[in-house]
Amino acid sequence: MRADRLCLTPEEAVTHVDDNTIAVVPALGVTYHGLYEDVAGIASALDDLQARTGLDVPIHVDAASGGFVVPFTDPGHNPWDFRVPRVKSINASGHKFGLAPLGVGWVLWREAADLPDDLVFHVSYLGGDMPTFQVNFSRPAGQVIAQYFDFVHLGRSGYAAIHGTAHAVARECAAGIASLPGFRVLHDGDPAKGIPAVVWTLDPGVQSFTLHELSDRLRMRGWQVQTYPFTGDLATRDFQRILVRRDFSREMARLFLRDVREAVAFLGSRPSAAGSSRPSSYSHL
Ligand SMILES: Cc1ncc(COP(=O)(O)O)c(C=O)c1O
Repeated sequence: MRADRLCLTPEEAVTHVDDNTIAVVPALGVTYHGLYEDVAGIASALDDLQARTGLDVPIHVDAASGGFVVPFTDPGHNPWDFRVPRVKSINASGHKFGLAPLGVGWVLWREAADLPDDLVFHVSYLGGDMPTFQVNFSRPAGQVIAQYFDFVHLGRSGYAAIHGTAHAVARECAAGIASLPGFRVLHDGDPAKGIPAVVWTLDPGVQSFTLHELSDRLRMRGWQVQTYPFTGDLATRDFQRILVRRDFSREMARLFLRDVREAVAFLGSRPSAAGSSRPSSYSHL
């Protein structure tokens, strides 16, 4: 990652492809910042590569976060799924924006032939042929049933309403964070660009406090906002993010922003922050 390139670009993707590449994996919602990578653009760069070199590299879309968001909040999004012929498989996490209350993940293949049969375990002792492809075998079905309940109960309009609200709340949070001096928002929750999340960093000029200190102050108020690095050129910079799901209401967003503002005011007003050369120590007098 670079400051001017937070996502995998089509141009960059093809430079890493050679005879040993089994797939290119754009993320629909990069873990670090939640922004969507350009699946259609990467596919067309791979089409061009194939025309030039003969290399035919498929795409797996890691839609862990965005797979259950984009179809509802940005239906006109550039094609990122099986409408793109090069996309052979897609994963999405049910327990993230799929809203399933129990852990469940989904993976879809374009066609059965895209999942090699020698990876599939065929079981006969339950009667008939039961093909299975998973790490463990016997397990409860509760996760799947809970997810199915959400699908039926909420339907397309329910997911659209819930995630649409999450985006609106994320955008309110982003506006609040962006209004703080020295804060730079990298993802403002725009549904065309990424999942309902807000991601920010501090301008390098901010010397009075660090994001780690802000994390600590927020933790005192019950908020877990981790400070973490990105990768590549951005592995030495600090970032923070919040994810907004249906249980993070507007009221909570207002409380959160109030606590951020108070924490920033506290951190900025410390004597050491004002450039005092006094060593920090406790005075009991
Ligand atoms: C882009 C991406 N891929 C995969 C995963 C893993 O998903 P899961 O925890 O459902 O296995 C995550 C997040 O945890 C993610 O952000």
